[in-house]
Order: sequence, then C-alpha cells, then structure tokens
Amino acid sequence: MGFRKDFLWGGATAANQCEGGYNAGGRGLANVDVVPVGEDRFPIITGQKKMLDFEPGYFYPAKEAIDMYHHYKEDIKLFAEMGFKTYRLSIAWTRIFPNGDEAEPNEQGLAFYEDLFKTCKSYGIEPLVTITHFDCPIHLIKEYGGWRNRKMIDFYENLVRTLFTRYQGLVKYWLTFNEINMILHAPFMGAGLVFEEDEDETQVKYQASHHELVASALATKIAHEIDPENQVGCMLAAGLNYPYSCKPEDVFAAQEKDRENYFFIDVQSRGAYPNYALKQLEREGVKIEMTEEDLALLKAHTVDFISFSYYASRVVTTDPKLNEQTEGNIFASVKNPYLEASEWGWQIDPLGLRTTMNALYDRYQKPLFIVENGLGAVDTPDGEGYVEDDYRIDYLREHIKAMKDAVELDGVDLLGYTSWGCIDLVSAGTGEMKKRYGFIYVDRDNEGKGTLKRTKKKSFDWYKQVIASNGENL
Ligand code: BG6
Repeated sequence: MGFRKDFLWGGATAANQCEGGYNAGGRGLANVDVVPVGEDRFPIITGQKKMLDFEPGYFYPAKEAIDMYHHYKEDIKLFAEMGFKTYRLSIAWTRIFPNGDEAEPNEQGLAFYEDLFKTCKSYGIEPLVTITHFDCPIHLIKEYGGWRNRKMIDFYENLVRTLFTRYQGLVKYWLTFNEINMILHAPFMGAGLVFEEDEDETQVKYQASHHELVASALATKIAHEIDPENQVGCMLAAGLNYPYSCKPEDVFAAQEKDRENYFFIDVQSRGAYPNYALKQLEREGVKIEMTEEDLALLKAHTVDFISFSYYASRVVTTDPKLNEQTEGNIFASVKNPYLEASEWGWQIDPLGLRTTMNALYDRYQKPLFIVENGLGAVDTPDGEGYVEDDYRIDYLREHIKAMKDAVELDGVDLLGYTSWGCIDLVSAGTGEMKKRYGFIYVDRDNEGKGTLKRTKKKSFDWYKQVIASNGENL
C-alpha cells in the first residue's frame, strides 16, 4: 500500500523563471526574456502584441530572476536537505544554441548543465528535464516565425540529439514540451507565435502544434535510440472541466473543453490524431499540412509516461447568465460556487486532482507523473526572512492526500510528485515575484530589488518529513 518505494518526490522549476544570467556564458536571447511585467504582458504572451527585443520603460523579470545561474549549488544543497529524490528543471535552449539554428552547440552552456546534473547526482537526486519550458530562441522567431515553420523540427532535433548524447548516463527522465496544450492560450510562450493582422490564428496554432507533436515523437525516437534507459514523457496543463449543471448541453460542452486539451496527449500517447479533433478541425476549415512520414512517426514513437500540472479544476456552462469568471492557469474559467480560491483567484480543489488522475489513467493506461502543483501566495517574512506558510502546507497536504487516494484506493500508477516553484521564482502568468510557491524564500521583490538571500520557510521542514515518511506523515 502507499506510494511505490522509489517514488520520486521533489520540486520543479523552469529556466526562464529562476536562472537569470540571460546573457551569461554565451547565452542568446529567448522569447521569455523579452516578456515584461505589466499590462502589456498578456497581449504579448497571447501573440497579439509583438515585442522581440528589450524596450525602454519596461521591467523584464527573467533577465535576473532569482539568479539560480550563480546559486544552483546552494539551491540544490537545500533541495537535498529536504530529501528530494528528483529535481525538475528546464534547459534554456539559448544556452545550448544561442540562435537556435547553429550547427554546433555552445560548450559553455553544455558545461553549465553538466555540472548542475552532476551536483544533483552527488546528492542522489534524479534530474527530470523539460527540454522546452515556454522558451524559443528569439532568432528563430524573427527568422522563421517560430513553430509555425516546419524547419523548427530540424532545429529541435539538433537540440535533443545534443542533449541526449551529452547527458547520457546523467539524465534519464525527459519531458519534450511543457504544457503543450498551452499553445492554444499563450502561443508566444508555447510556440514563439506572434500573429499578423487578418491571419487565421486557429490555423496557425494547429499547424504549429503539429510541428511540436512531430518534434516530440522524433525526440522520443532519438532518446530511445541513444539510450534505451531514457524515459520520455508528454506534459499537459491538466485540470478537468466540470459541467456547471447536469443539463446535457453543459455536460457535452465540458467534454468538448476537455478534448481541447486531451487532443495533444491523445496524439503523443496513442500515436494518432483522434477522430473528434479531425472532425472539429474540418468544421473550422483548418487544414494541417502533414506527411505520411509524420503520421508513421507519431504512431511508432509514443511517450513512456504522462506528466501533467494540476492547480485547479475548471467549470463550463452553456448558460450566458452564469458568467462570473475567476482567474486560472493563464486563462480564466467560470467560478465554481463550491470552491475557495487563492489570492490570485485560482480555485482550490484537491479532490479534482484525484478525479483528473483517474481520468488520465483510465484514458492512457500509462504511468502518471505530477510535475507541477502548488499554491501561489503572498508571503510575509519576519525580520530574519522566515515565513510561517501554514496556508501552503494546508494546500499541499490536501492535494497529496487526494493523490494518495488515487494511488491507494483507485490503483493509479504514479511515478512521482514535484511541487511547483520549490524555491520562490518569477510567475509565468504575471511576471511577479510576490506570487510565491516555494519552500525556500528568496529575498527579491516585484521591482527586482533584494539581496537574493535564501531562507527556509515553515513548509521546508514539513515537506522534508513528508518525503522521509514516503507520504505517510502529512
Ligand atoms: C504553469 C507553468 O502553467 O503554471 C509554470 O508551467 C507556471 O511555468 C505555473 O509558473 C504557475 O503559474 P504562475 O502564473 O502562477 O507562475
């Protein structure tokens, strides 16, 4: 009973939200670097406003973030002290290929991650590596239009071949694209897309999605060829859509909303475009250019496991009067009257995690991996920088309980759990520092001021005992 003996407890981060060092070690500029804080952020991440360079008058939080580029040894040491078995991080593509289309990689970038992985290994921490977490070299956007262009598959292939070869024996778990379904909601982050006026956005998004799906299958193929030990996962921004009522129209609308997300994982895990998507795309007049070779590749190289983020469930209604919205992961949802919400309006639904896990396991019958979950909250440190974050402990405890029920009572096969932002980092949605998820407080504010000092929060010791007891002691 309980979690498997080798359950991978840990935490997760993404390069652009924690590394900083945006021009260090020969790194090139990426889309995520030039996304500022403030009211222009949303139009930029949704591809409606173009910003492909730093512009005066804006603050760009990713430039320095929490400077993990220079603090990773200290940070990983703290993760080890909590007992982490795994640490999920992402590669900054532009450290390896500064422009994205070079033939040869940048040795300094490769050496940086090599040392980081070795540091993890020295503590017995298994790296879990996201190959792209919302990042795309700016040069590839300016020259090729991002993932709308088929050539991106070649550049990505070059990247993954380099990574799998160099880090063979150091890294075993890989995720091809973070929250691949986010391309529909934040296409600049998900695929480096900026839309032209009068362009058919749906057409562009699905063509870009196809390229990412092919690139993901190709990466899976290459990973297995280079080392059969490699385990490759897809990554879904999950959270079921509940029908607001039992009205059949609501139930059907919720199913359709879920399929918008499942579409990506259906291709990555089952190896083919699902019928409902083909019909839907046909009705919308979307024509995806794809070759016979693409289809064969998708079929032959499906993922080994299904990873996902879970923050909240969502609600769908067909009743236009029930339009009270609440915030959520990048996009808003109808408010669920039965749930409390975080300070940012994200609804708190631990049982929804169990329901989501069951839905995914029923559908795919492959091991699951929860690679993001957590509470973004304002922390108020005392004079020493210590935070009593009982609210965060409560959130995580309830979600871990629900996850345990899914494993113990429902028999879901779960590889591990990495809570999001195990050390405070920059928010992807808002660019704020004050939206904190960590077990470790970082002294840095929304304007980029602060000493960057790291301090353990109350949740640090709590999570340590959760891991030590393999989830028994909550
Ligand atoms: C997920 C992303 O969408 O949610 C992370 O993969 C992100 O990059 C996380 O940070 C939480 O969202 P936010 O907007 O609170 O940072």
